[in-house]
Order: sequence, then C-alpha cells, then structure tokens
Amino acid sequence: MKPFEIMKGVYWVGAIDHDIRNFHGYSYTVHHGTTYNAYLVVGKKIALVDAVYGPFAEEMFDRISRIVDLQKIDYMISNHTETDHSGAVPEVLRRVPNATLVCTARAIDALKKHYRDGWKIQTVKTGDEINLGGKTLRFYEAPMLHWPESMFTYYVEEQLLMPNDAFGQHYASEERYADEVDQYVLWREAEKYYANILWPLSRQVQRKIEEVLELKLPIKIIAPSHGLIWRKDPLQIVTRYLQWAKGERTTDKVVITWDTMWQSTTKLARAIAEGIRDEGLTPLLRLIPHSDRSDTMAELLEAKGILVGSSTLHNEILPTVAPILSDLEVLKPEGKKCAAFGSYGWSGGAVKKIQEAMERGKMQVIMEPFTVKWVPTKEELDKAYEWGKEFAQKVK
Ligand code: FEO
Repeated sequence: MKPFEIMKGVYWVGAIDHDIRNFHGYSYTVHHGTTYNAYLVVGKKIALVDAVYGPFAEEMFDRISRIVDLQKIDYMISNHTETDHSGAVPEVLRRVPNATLVCTARAIDALKKHYRDGWKIQTVKTGDEINLGGKTLRFYEAPMLHWPESMFTYYVEEQLLMPNDAFGQHYASEERYADEVDQYVLWREAEKYYANILWPLSRQVQRKIEEVLELKLPIKIIAPSHGLIWRKDPLQIVTRYLQWAKGERTTDKVVITWDTMWQSTTKLARAIAEGIRDEGLTPLLRLIPHSDRSDTMAELLEAKGILVGSSTLHNEILPTVAPILSDLEVLKPEGKKCAAFGSYGWSGGAVKKIQEAMERGKMQVIMEPFTVKWVPTKEELDKAYEWGKEFAQKVK
C-alpha cells in the first residue's frame, strides 16, 4: 500500500474505506465511503499528524514503513480525539513508546477516557510550535470544530494547513486531490458534511474562520482528515464554509418532505409544489420513507426553505416524520424559513408538533400551518396551491 507524497517530505499515509455506508451510528449515510487521512511530516525529526480509525491501523503502518522506520517517529500529533482519527493512536504509541503525543489540554481527558493509557504527552495551545529541523509545525486551537479539543496543525514553511475534520468530505477515492474527482460529488459531499456535522456550530465556525483569515496565514494546500485535499484555490472551501455558516448561500430550491397515511398529505404536497413551481422556484419533493434524511439535510443547507408535512396519527405526527424533526431540532438551521402542512381525521395534532419542533430548531416559521380534514376537496387543493405560492413569494 503506497504512501502518497503531497509535497516534499509530507506524505499521505491514511486509509481508504470504500465499504462504510453509515457514519456516526446510523445518523449519516456515506454513499461514497470515506478516507481517514493521516500525514507524515519528515524533517530531521518526524511527526505523524493524526492517525486512522483502529481497524485500518495496519494499512497506515504499512504505508509509513515504506517511507521510514516506524521507530523514528518523534511526535504523534492528535488534532482531534474522535475515534475515526485517534483509533490507531494507542497502537502507534505502543509500537513507538518514545514518541510524544501532542494535543490540546482539553484532549487529554478525552484521550485517556477513550484509551485508558499512560503516554508521554505535550500539550499545545494556539501559536505553539514544534521544530522538526527546518520544518515547523504550528498549532491553532479550534474548539467546536467540531469537538471542544479540536485543533489545526499548520506546516509553516510549506503553508500547509491540516485542519482535521474541517473542510473534509466523506469521499473514498484513489485520487488524493479535490481537483481530480467528480466536482458534483465532491461539493455534494462537502455540503452534506457541513450540514450534518457543522451546521449547529455555525457561529463557532464563522468566528474561527474569521479569526484565521485575520491572521492572513498564507495557505497553499488544505489537507483535511476526510476525503480529498484542496490544492487548487484551497480557500474556495473556506469561503464556502463562511457562506454556509452565515446562511448566505441559497439556490432557488424549496424542500418539501412529508409522510402520508392514505395519500391526503401527498395530495397536499403536490399541490403546494405546483404553487412553488409557478412562482419560479424549484420544489424538491422528498417523501420521507423513500428519502435519506442526511441527504435531505444536505439539500436544505442551500435551499430557500422547507415545508414538512404529516398525517395525524393518535393526535401526533406519523412516527416516520420524527427523525426529520429531530434533525431540524439538533442541526438548528437557524433562520431557515419553514412551515408545516398535513391532514387529520378528528384531531389535528401533527402540524402543531411539526411547528413546535421547527421553533426549537430556531427556524423561522413564516406561515400558519396548512391542514385539511380527511381527504382534500378540489377547493382545498386549490388553497394548498395558493399556500405554496405564498410561501414561495415570502422566501424568494
Ligand atoms: Fe470528528 Fe472525523 O471525526
């Protein structure tokens, strides 16, 4: 398994996971697999920047051993404790006991609780540096990008930023650079990554990026810990993160997602979609049982708004609608314009529950819910069409 030299003396020694399809338990589908990127910086001293997920340790060791003797590693730098990057750290330090583990002070507790081991540790904070002999690694704490202990490592002389999870994508590929792969898939995966992991942390993302931009750090390459490396115009992904964090980047899409018991709510969804279409926007119809919720959240990131619908069952939403509402509550698409619709028989609790969840997600409910009793009449479908038009007019 060959390593890949991304610049003189810096090697990608990570692992490619083509088979994984669910990340973070079952909360995030990764249709294109992922990579666990680890980088070996070889100066007079040698540093391994991040490791790989435990089951892929041998793949990483094999790549490293084609460059240097493992025993020559001086520093094991852990930018982030989550197991997909730190899983192989205990094995690195077992095989190379003299290596120093470098991390933020906040990472110590997390690493010890994960692995219950005693290691030689050097804690670092923003601005601290390690000199590998002509190669300087500088550290920047990046709390909540996306864990409290996260940090970025910057190779000063070659202007290489290794920001761990930030700016990554779940995309397994034999290519290593972002400009070498299908751009639609690349950006779709970058979007999905932001929506499902970083969206609720948008304020911290914005603050940290603005702070880093103010430092005017020259950046030639951004090498994240998942997916492809940004070498052509690397700041394009930084700019995109800033736009997503501020909610500034929107397309003409409106997400309509719902489930139905006997098709009444589906009829409403279609009439509403027609109204939206006739106002010049593009409705994305996502019937919940046929849709992937982490894809729907990715589509919502740049959409102008979202409508969530449900039939009423036992005065509640249908159980299939609950996961989407949970996503809206936890991912907090702050300020995203939204409204609820649905049908009912003798009590109409579903739309109320949907609206409450949207409010807990800090979204902007801009219309009263649209709801019908039993099966919608022609007149009610006309009203649903008008309701869709009005929603579109308000979000345009
Ligand atoms: Fe936060 Fe890729 O782990």
